[in-house]
Amino acid sequence: MPLLKAEGLVRRYESRQGLFGRIAHIRALDGVSLELRKGETLGLVGESGCGKSTTGRLVLGLEPADEGHVVFGGAPMPGPTTPEWRRLRARMQMIHQDPLGALDRRLPIGAQVEEPLVIHRRGDAAARAGRVAALLEEVGLDAGHAARYPHELSGGQRQRAVIARALATGPELIVADEPISALDVSIQAQVMNVLAEAQARHGLALLFVSHDLRVVRQVSHRVAVMYLGRIVEEGEPDAVLREPAHFYTRALVSAIPHPSRRDAKRIVLKGDPPSPAARPAGCAFHPRCAAAVALCAREVPELKPRADGRKVACHLAHGDAMPVRKAA
Ligand SMILES: Nc1ncnc2c1ncn2[C@@H]1O[C@H](COP(=O)(O)OP(=O)(O)O)[C@@H](O)[C@H]1O
Ligand SMILES: [Mg+2]
Repeated sequence: MPLLKAEGLVRRYESRQGLFGRIAHIRALDGVSLELRKGETLGLVGESGCGKSTTGRLVLGLEPADEGHVVFGGAPMPGPTTPEWRRLRARMQMIHQDPLGALDRRLPIGAQVEEPLVIHRRGDAAARAGRVAALLEEVGLDAGHAARYPHELSGGQRQRAVIARALATGPELIVADEPISALDVSIQAQVMNVLAEAQARHGLALLFVSHDLRVVRQVSHRVAVMYLGRIVEEGEPDAVLREPAHFYTRALVSAIPHPSRRDAKRIVLKGDPPSPAARPAGCAFHPRCAAAVALCAREVPELKPRADGRKVACHLAHGDAMPVRKAA
């Protein structure tokens, strides 16, 4: 049984375009299903605005889904802010992009790492102090950092502290939303290693959100590619990068700088970047897809497994009778 199972998640938002503008109805998630097993890292990748963060919030129950449901540890996710949900928080945590925003500037690091232990009533003060020291050591900080304030630490050290706090109650699931994107490039790999080692050591289920396919590849057992509120391809990272099946994934992979390939094979996407307020009919990617046929403008392709285990939501990726007519 998977630790986490999300089925058919739909999330709608309303947003006003400008101060007196009309209200746009956004379908941020348009039927996202995913599973995560204990000890598994699922990388969620896609352009800005495709719904990665929304997916992360919904699987943690921080926001309710408008349609679909989340099952965690075999039970339905309780509604946000209910007592049941608050108790569950000890078992699932979130790490954000911006560690300074996630930390309280007025509190020393040690108190912040300790906070979840206090909230969930774990141990007495002495036990908690020992636990905080062990957590700081685990993420590569030392006991001396406990008395320091966030602004006294570097960006990388702050994100280490955030990871320590996320690990404090021994969670089973962590959603890491672009956890290294805001960090200096020179320290990104170190912080990612801290997270990957903690994931392996504790057998965590990790939903690792990133816009960067290369980063996702390094840490994930499986990767899911999102486009405009849907997962369009899912599979084993090396295989997906070697042989992307969806035309959107192909474009993403071709955009990765490659020393031996130069830019010769780079696929440049045509058309405007997608907006969830104006979702194209059929396959949402079809207006930008070089291979689109008439069917693609008409029917939404379901995410279906192929014989090789890859899941792809593309009418042309399943080796069925292939329609040949180009879309108008
Ligand atoms: N609270 C909100 N209110 C209105 N629109 C939102 C809200 N949160 C996200 N959106 C919109 O939903 C879409 C998906 O956003 P998000 O999940 O943040 O994407 P990503 O993390 O992949 O960049 C975007 O178009 C975004 O503007
Ligand atoms: Mg995001």
